[in-house]
Amino acid sequence: MHAGVQTRLTQELEQFKRDGVYKRLNHLDSPQAPRVTMEGRGEVVILSSNNYVGLSNTPEVVAAGKAALDRYGAGTASVRFICGTFTIHRDLEAALARFVGTEASLSYVSCWNANEGLFATLLNDQDIVISDQLNHASIIDGIRLAKVIGKCDTAVYKHSDMADLEVKLRDAREHRTRLVVTDGVFSMEGDIARLADILELARRYDSVVAVDDSHATGVLGATGRGTAEHCGVLGEVDILTSTLGKALGGAAGGFVASSAAVCDYLTQRARPQLFSNALPCTVAGSALAAVRHLEAHPELITRLHENARYFREQLIARGFKPLPGETPIIPVILGETAKAIQMSELLLEAGVFVTGFGYPVVPQGEARVRCQVSAAHTRDDLDRALAAFTTVGRKLGLV
Ligand SMILES: Cc1ncc(COP(=O)(O)O)c(C=O)c1O
Repeated sequence: MHAGVQTRLTQELEQFKRDGVYKRLNHLDSPQAPRVTMEGRGEVVILSSNNYVGLSNTPEVVAAGKAALDRYGAGTASVRFICGTFTIHRDLEAALARFVGTEASLSYVSCWNANEGLFATLLNDQDIVISDQLNHASIIDGIRLAKVIGKCDTAVYKHSDMADLEVKLRDAREHRTRLVVTDGVFSMEGDIARLADILELARRYDSVVAVDDSHATGVLGATGRGTAEHCGVLGEVDILTSTLGKALGGAAGGFVASSAAVCDYLTQRARPQLFSNALPCTVAGSALAAVRHLEAHPELITRLHENARYFREQLIARGFKPLPGETPIIPVILGETAKAIQMSELLLEAGVFVTGFGYPVVPQGEARVRCQVSAAHTRDDLDRALAAFTTVGRKLGLV
């Protein structure tokens, strides 16, 4: 390695450690589950995973991944249009479209990739994308790319502020296409997009709406179909992107769900489709089983909602002030990054794994520990975590 670069990076890493913002990776030696085996720690309750309904270790989901591995092999061997598309991809894409209520869907190796491919493919210099201020990094980077590749215009509206969105839409009247994009559930806040209002405004200004439902697919709505189901507008969103790697339990993977024309256009032109391998078949197999499992077991979604409500209420009863909301993402704001990391370390010592988030993932001064509840947590798991919160909260003078 070049000596100058090596020295600079090492110095910066040392500074991260002195500032208390260095991220230490925790190694797990068991599947993702409500309790995991962590190297050097033994069994801990995990309260910071996206395994919202416990599917990442559900026997049918694991078995389907193994069956797909046996049937289709380990590698996809190239890009879909170059060396063939596996039937399991077609089956998965049909199941995903059915589940989220769109005509078609198109899989990617991650939702990051899906977002990266979306804006740059659909928009050019006659168009504008209007994005919520707190949208996920993958949307922000996807838009940056679109600005460079397609030379589209961009605007940002204040978080969930419909008056500001309307100003931005009015200002964009001359553009050919106005694309409004929002997270369905904002991952660091746990709040839900005002989707019915966004759709109403978008219709008024003849605009297109895209929603990244990564934290909502398999989570929100009575049957887990996402933000649109929660907001009573299922089937009305123009374009959805989402991940297979959170509630759907997958090792990775993402998708776009929309009209057949949008998915076909992305197949023709989206750079991650044209220049990167397809989703591994084993992952597609697991994801397909996960969708079928969720369709057959809506009670998992009910349990997830009950667990989230219980944990939130109990935190408040114990003197914590989590951000208000109704999703399984329950952040407790602590201020400085070092404080969030300290709380997370103390919780881990008490047998509970909750990650602390600081700048630049969240704004300066708004560091937090972010709890994520799963349908797979038992009351006993949640009560153990709550007891640890009380002990650590008292130690830090928070409650
Ligand atoms: C809103 C949102 N979009 C996209 C992603 C990226 O998903 P993936 O892991 O499938 O790339 C995430 C993951 O953190 C997310 O929270």
